[in-house]
Amino acid sequence: MISSKKIYWVNLFLEILPNSGCQQFKARLLRWAGVQVGKRVEIFQGVKVQGIGELELGDGCFIGHEVMFMLNAGSRVIVEPEAIVGSRSTVITGFHPITPDGPRVLSREGTCSTVRIGRGCSVSTQCIVLPGVTVGEMSIVGAGATVTKDVEPYTVVGGCPAKFIRSLK
Ligand SMILES: CC(C)(COP(=O)(O)OP(=O)(O)OC[C@H]1O[C@@H](n2cnc3c(N)ncnc32)[C@H](O)[C@@H]1OP(=O)(O)O)[C@@H](O)C(=O)NCCC(=O)NCCS
Repeated sequence: MISSKKIYWVNLFLEILPNSGCQQFKARLLRWAGVQVGKRVEIFQGVKVQGIGELELGDGCFIGHEVMFMLNAGSRVIVEPEAIVGSRSTVITGFHPITPDGPRVLSREGTCSTVRIGRGCSVSTQCIVLPGVTVGEMSIVGAGATVTKDVEPYTVVGGCPAKFIRSLK
């Protein structure tokens, strides 16, 4: 599990370290804070990890600049090997309760579920991947998409909400 204190410092460092340099140092920092980081992972400037869930970054994956992982306690994001999460994308695992008049911001309750970004797939620039979604292996999520449901492997999807565009097979 991620340490909230350590990840605070790691987020500050990731803000100032250069885009494509210091990759091993960035990986070490993230491991220190409790993130599982594989080999040859590329982490660009300004990546942010919020919350104390779990985060796994598989071998050779690419995390673009200013990507945000929002990890509720008890949830997990798995970025499988060779996957790309494009710049300014946000991956979210939780949500507060939806009630007509209950507490929202102050509520510490809610739901959360695992997000899986499949092997070799590409989540393009400025996408939002919502809780519980699996983005299938080798698929492509078009720029600016909001992914509300699972994406089949080897497909291209896009839009808000993301819809099938074409098959890659
Ligand atoms: C999704 C994407 C890969 C599709 O490329 P493509 O297969 O060549 O698709 P086309 O350009 O032929 O478009 C096919 C259809 O999808 C639509 N489409 C393309 N990109 C889209 C997107 N991002 N969101 C919604 N719809 C999209 C097109 O309008 C077209 O619709 P139509 O058939 O109704 O006219 C590409 O448009 C894209 O978003 N690339 C990401 C670029 C990026 O972020 N690069 C950095 C990555 S780290």
